[in-house]
This record gives sequence, C-alpha cells and structure tokens, in this order.
Amino acid sequence: DLMQEIKRLEEMFTVDTAKLKAITEHFISELAKGLSVEGGSIPMNPTWCMAFPTGYETGTFLALDMGGTNLRVCEIILTDEKSEFDIIQSKYRMPEELKSGTADELWEYIADCLQQFIESHHGTKDLERLPLGFTFSYPATQDYIDHGVLQRWTKGFDIDGVEGHNVVPMFEAAIAKRGVPIKLTALINDTTGTLIASAYTDTKMKIGCIFGTGCNAAYMENVGSIPKLAHMNLPPDTPMAINCEWGAFDNEHKVLPRTPYDIIIDKDSPRPGQQAFEKMIAGLYLGELFRLVLVDLHDNKEVHIFEGQNIDKLRKAYTLDSSFLSMVEEDPFENLSETGDLFQNKLGIVANHPELELIRRLAELIGTRAARLSSCGVAAIAKKKGYETCHVGADGSVFNKYPHFKQRGAQALREILDWAPKKSSKEEDPIEILAAEDGSGVGAALIAALTLKRVKEGN
Ligand code: BG6
Ligand code: GLC
Repeated sequence: DLMQEIKRLEEMFTVDTAKLKAITEHFISELAKGLSVEGGSIPMNPTWCMAFPTGYETGTFLALDMGGTNLRVCEIILTDEKSEFDIIQSKYRMPEELKSGTADELWEYIADCLQQFIESHHGTKDLERLPLGFTFSYPATQDYIDHGVLQRWTKGFDIDGVEGHNVVPMFEAAIAKRGVPIKLTALINDTTGTLIASAYTDTKMKIGCIFGTGCNAAYMENVGSIPKLAHMNLPPDTPMAINCEWGAFDNEHKVLPRTPYDIIIDKDSPRPGQQAFEKMIAGLYLGELFRLVLVDLHDNKEVHIFEGQNIDKLRKAYTLDSSFLSMVEEDPFENLSETGDLFQNKLGIVANHPELELIRRLAELIGTRAARLSSCGVAAIAKKKGYETCHVGADGSVFNKYPHFKQRGAQALREILDWAPKKSSKEEDPIEILAAEDGSGVGAALIAALTLKRVKEGN
C-alpha cells in the first residue's frame, strides 16, 4: 500500500548523519585532489581573482550575467563611501532554444542585449569603453582573468563549438561587430562574484555558494596550497579564489547515495557521467526527480498511483520545475487542497488524499536531501581551510525561494560538525550560510576594479 511505498522512499532519499560525515570526508580529499597536478573530478579552477576587496574600490563598471535562467546587464557605480554602490539593471529572458542552438546565436543574443542596455542608458553617443565583468557561470580553464576555455556545458546547455574554446574572443567578436563600447576586463563565475560581493560588506564571509539552477562554491585558497600552479612561481601566500565546480563531486559514484531516479536523470541528460553531485541537488533537477518517481509509482503494478487516469502530461520530461515542488511543500492546508488543485490544473490528474500525502512527503524528501547534501560541500571547504567560524554567502533561486532549504542546510551542518545545540534561536551557529549581496552585479564590478588595480600595479 501507499504507506509502505512512502517508507521505501524515505529509506531511499534520507541521508543520515553518519552518511553526511562520510560524504564530507571524501569531499575534503577530492577538493585537494582537484588542486593537485594530476587533478581529480572536481575542477578546482583558479580564477585569477587574487584579493578580497577593501571596501574602498571605486569606478563605473558594466556587468553581464549569464546564469542558467536569465541574462542580466547591470551598470554599477562603486562610490567613494566605504562598501557603497549604485546599480541599475535590466533582465532579459534567456530563450530556451538558445540552450541547444548554435554558438553564433548565443553570442549574437548576448551582444544584442548589451547593445540595447547601453543604448537605452547612454544613447548612441561616443562613449569611452566601459570595463565589463562577464559572469559566465560554467566551468572554464583560465590562464588569466580575461580568458576562459569552456571545459563543458552544465545545467542542460548543449551548444556545439564552444566546449574546448576560449569564450572571450567569441564574445568580443559579437561585440565588435556592433561597435558596442565596452572592454571585457574579467571573466568570472557566479560563485566567485558571490564570494567577493559578500566580503565587500562583511569581512567574515569566506565562502560564496550558489544554490540555484546549478550548485557550486568558491573560496579563497593560498597559491602555496595549489600544486597545479607551482610552475607560476608565485609567492606561496598569494591569495587565489578557487571556483570549485563542486557539481562534479563524486562523478565516479563512490559515496553519494544515488537512487535509480538519479541514474535516469544522468543517463537522459546532455552530458551523462558529469555533475553527479549537482544532479542530486540543483534546482534544474528537483522537479524532474519528483516527476520520475511519480511516473514510476503509476506504472509500477503493485502500487499504481493515479489509477485509471491519463498521465500523459506528467510523462513529459522536465515539465515540473523546482517552483512546483516549492508550492507542494508550501501547501498550508491539512487536506493538501492546494496541491490537489496544482495537480489538476497543471497535469490534469485528480489525486486522492493518500496520494496527496505521498506527493507532499516525496517533495519534502527531495528538498531535504538537496539541502543536506549541499551542506557537505560547505563543511568540506570549512574543514579543509580550518575555518571554525565564518560566514558563507549564498545566492540562487533554491536558496532564496525553496521552503525550509536554509533551515535544513543549517541542521545538516550542525550534525556534520558536531555543534552543541543553540541555547536560543538568536544565537549564531559557528558557520552561518547567509543570503549574499547581488554577486553577479557588484561582484563582477569589484573583480573588474581589483583587476584594473592589479594591472596598474604591474602584478
Ligand atoms: C543570481 C545571480 O542571483 O543567481 C546569478 O545573479 C546566478 O549570477 C544565479 O547564476 C543563480 O541562481 P539561478 O537560480 O538563477 O540559477
Ligand atoms: C553549474 C556551473 C557553475 C555555476 C553553478 C551555479 O554548476 O557549472 O559554474 O557556478 O552551476 O550557477
């Protein structure tokens, strides 16, 4: 019966404290492996962002943010007041077709948005070329800060002719064609932007995380702990922000408790075998996991939920996004009537009460697993660096919008790091994950400012 089925799902999706700890330990060794000359699954990309901001950076910058869902263009003025800035921005939809279109279409679209933004804010008069920070949130190998060879597309992108190439000249060519007056100063990752923007206003910030369409983190390492940079002969205490690209953690499937549904997600994705960790926790996949379980429970002869109903709509891959799961988890009614309406309106399925209870529990299990697994990454970086107390700046739709994500993540950190229970709810945990400043706007501007300063000083 359904109760038994719920129990089976609970066993499958629950990650207990001992497992969280085992995952964290393996994570620590994989972080180190990624920094070694031989390398490992986690890319641990040096970003050439080599300082925290002081709060006294100044200037006018553009920022272009290509995440997974939106394209955003911002103009940021870092003012003379410590840690103060002004920002204006425009958001553009990232059309779904672009994600599997051609490289030209992608760069043309981006250049069009930039041109529109500049024309609407500055007109077409001749401008000095504004420095631009380009937040390109995919794994890239950088030999310097305005260079980045795309290692592989993530987050469901699948555009030919970009992987293995430096994206900067492609971007610059599209810009030059239109005569847009900008100069790409820094190519950055959203996690690095989040780290730097957070540290601008809070010096306790040591890690920047994204929990959104994808999932990843950045932190500041010392060059002396990065064997793969030894050939650069930099002083060992030189700081270097590392974009972990931890979505690739455990691609060899040694510790993560994957379910048959995780295996299907991977197999049917454009890059099977990649981003094992990300595929279990990031926003792009949460709704799909949920859908796969429900379809299985319908087709499975013993349980057979939604008996006799047409579930064709539910059979469509990626038809449910993480906001659907959020709504299920947020249903305030004892009888789950909102969830019932959602299923009826969106999927044409009439779910009975026991089915609704299973649906709610399943959403909780998937959301909770995501939050708990994410905390293993945070704990691993903190342990590797010996941070007993710090702040972690986080951004992304899952962190900001998914119900209970923050509390569940904090609870997992407490278990992994064996903290004594808080004496009052006001007391801070030794390591707190907090909502970050707008990383991809301010962070990109700050990194561009820090880069110009470094160039000026001849470093
Ligand atoms: C945004 C940042 O707030 O969050 C982006 O500006 C980042 O740079 C994004 O990529 C991540 O969240 P999501 O949910 O859009 O993937
Ligand atoms: C994916 C990308 C990574 C990005 C993250 C969050 O993991 O590979 O670069 O930081 O998504 O957007």
